[in-house]
Amino acid sequence: ATHAPLQEKNCASITPPYAQLIQNLKVARQHLGAKKLSLSEKILLSHLYEPSKPFGETKLRGQAYLQLRPERVAMQDASAQMALLQFMSAGLPQSVVPASIHCDHLIQAVDGAKSDLERSIVTNQEVFDFLESAARKYGMEFWRPGSGIIHQIVLENYAAPGMLMLGTDSHTPNAGGLGMLAIGVGGADAVDAMTGTPWELKHPEIVGIHLTGKMGPWVSPKDLILHVAGKLTVRGGTGRILEYFGPGVHAQSCTGLACVANMGAEVGATTSTFPYTDAMRAYLNATGRAPVARAADEAAAQGFLSPDEGTEYDQFIEINLSELEPYINGPFTPDLATPLSKFGDFVKENGWKDDLSAALIGSCTNSSYQDMTSVADLASQAKAAGLKTKVPFLCTPGSEQIRATMERDNVTSTLEDVGALVLANACGPCIGQWKRADQPAEENAILTSFNRNFKSRNDGNAHTMNFLASPTIVTAFAFAGNLQFNPMKDSIPLPSGGDFRFTAPSGQDLPPAGFAPGETSFYPAQTPTPQPGTEIVIKKDSQRLELLQPFTSPFATGNRELSGMKVLMRVRGKCTTDHISAAGPWLKYKGHLTNISENLRESAVNDEGGEVNVAFDRADGSQDTIPGVAKRLKARGQPWALVVDDNYGEGSAREHAALQPRFYGCNMIVARSFARIHETNLKAISNKQGVLPLWFADKADYSRIGSGDELATIGLAELLDGKADAQIKIRVEKMNGQIFEIATKHTMSADQIRWLEAGSALNYIRSKMR
Ligand code: F3S
Repeated sequence: ATHAPLQEKNCASITPPYAQLIQNLKVARQHLGAKKLSLSEKILLSHLYEPSKPFGETKLRGQAYLQLRPERVAMQDASAQMALLQFMSAGLPQSVVPASIHCDHLIQAVDGAKSDLERSIVTNQEVFDFLESAARKYGMEFWRPGSGIIHQIVLENYAAPGMLMLGTDSHTPNAGGLGMLAIGVGGADAVDAMTGTPWELKHPEIVGIHLTGKMGPWVSPKDLILHVAGKLTVRGGTGRILEYFGPGVHAQSCTGLACVANMGAEVGATTSTFPYTDAMRAYLNATGRAPVARAADEAAAQGFLSPDEGTEYDQFIEINLSELEPYINGPFTPDLATPLSKFGDFVKENGWKDDLSAALIGSCTNSSYQDMTSVADLASQAKAAGLKTKVPFLCTPGSEQIRATMERDNVTSTLEDVGALVLANACGPCIGQWKRADQPAEENAILTSFNRNFKSRNDGNAHTMNFLASPTIVTAFAFAGNLQFNPMKDSIPLPSGGDFRFTAPSGQDLPPAGFAPGETSFYPAQTPTPQPGTEIVIKKDSQRLELLQPFTSPFATGNRELSGMKVLMRVRGKCTTDHISAAGPWLKYKGHLTNISENLRESAVNDEGGEVNVAFDRADGSQDTIPGVAKRLKARGQPWALVVDDNYGEGSAREHAALQPRFYGCNMIVARSFARIHETNLKAISNKQGVLPLWFADKADYSRIGSGDELATIGLAELLDGKADAQIKIRVEKMNGQIFEIATKHTMSADQIRWLEAGSALNYIRSKMR
């Protein structure tokens, strides 16, 4: 039964409400005159919370804050924990929009799919039990361990042209392969969508990428995005949507486009998208969603699923696919792009060894049927020549559907015959869940078809240089075992004498016999109904999960200013979200705020003394770790504030970096500047948790405030009372009794001011529900 072709799904809950969206867009357009719109703008404006409300900004892109109504939410098991704990404390009986939970990040790769899955289920049982019980209570779709990786499942089941979706994972944009906007967010933003609260986004700028020409036989969509990453760099997409168009888009498979959209995250893009194509229609049909394809066809006929002719872009990039060659990017950063023909020299110039130590394919980025049949083609050529891979060759199928279809179509057996180890349908080595056998003690190089290559990401080994390439290039290198190899022109010596040379790989976009669903017990019921009587499973003495207690509003007792805040420390220099809340071993505490808060800013530098993870308790003159002093202040009921340097909070959106300070009693953060990426995340996220984020009007004032000084706001009351242009000053009382005032700026929207007043966005939502 697991190999029988997929049946048509009930598409009622997964078809975007196109008529309504097109009508919303028509209404919103009335404020825009004859402006030509990109596809991204059409999707954003059709999802406005109140389409008839004027924007109040002359320029939308890069300036206006949009209040949006996402259609769906997807959460992976690591980030879903805090998202659901927050959702629970909002007190709603069910999620307002369809939501799905995917068990993929917590499964560790050791020795193969079956045993890895069984072991990881035991290790993480309490987390999976919690997620499943929450899903049942609130009517969410629960994808069990083994079902696959969030982004692959979303593409196979939920993504649809023109849709707007949020996901609690950086690579959520993968769903853009179906011509939609899918945006990676923190749990608190997901809670906005699930509670029906308008979700705010600063209108991104739009980068237009025009594709012409035809890819050569060794070139794949992965090479396109590796090339774009090199062009734009890791920051080039910040605050921007990458919108591809032109004939080159229509020549790609839907899953190929998904790979390109997935890795837009590597250049910091808000998301990526493409106009509706024939390949998207074919993919919808092949994945049991013909009714969605028919509805999309009608919406496309009305011009909804493509940009207006003559749209202007904030940046324009032209790429001729005929000129593209395969790329290998890295090590340690995805934007260090080297064309395959120059890679051998690049390795030599850097003095690195030529040996490859492992090759890994699959993940959410590259485990489509097309990817897998292409690599199987290379594997069968090599097998016919009597070759096996020279290095460990690991394959991660993106979903149970892909795994079952690969098995049925003899792709798996072909790969295993040449030495591949097929892992569980989960993130595994991509997120460092890889217990690597014979962990190298010295510098070594691996090649993966994944999306990220930060140091230590895959095997936790800082000696491992991780390069990114297409699945076919990775596979060809697995047979050569040497970084000087170029499969387009080099041969591999055969043990029997003679040489073997690959012919260019050929795969199939879609399985001719249809997709096989595989083991359906991993899957949720379609459109599950909430079961309000379900008890949420959290073990009494759990070290991994803890119910969230609502934060108390400092204004609850009638105060309209913040006062009596002691400065915990003055943070010097770089303070990324990783400095504020480290990942690695702390990941297992994502659902336990008390435990994870033990890592608060443990790698931040104190500007008073220059030491890492040192803070001073000015009440008794002693010194402790940063979380140590924060804990003491919390125990004394002492509200506190932080003074931080330039670019505070760059890095990935990590809401724990906002929750943890607030948990210990932080009420205000005054920064020389908040990182740009931060403006749409940590500043707003901190604000969402009830922390007042302020900017120094004069950056020199940073040095005038030190730990133990007492701060109070002046003018906040006016802002809370609705005077939007109120100026907020800070009264500083130094430890030596000196008193002075400094000027600040804020960038809070009307909603953000309400969150602050309520003590957190969740408190505000809860009060509105009442
Ligand atoms: Fe998982 Fe790696 Fe994708 S962690 S979601 S497979 S980026």
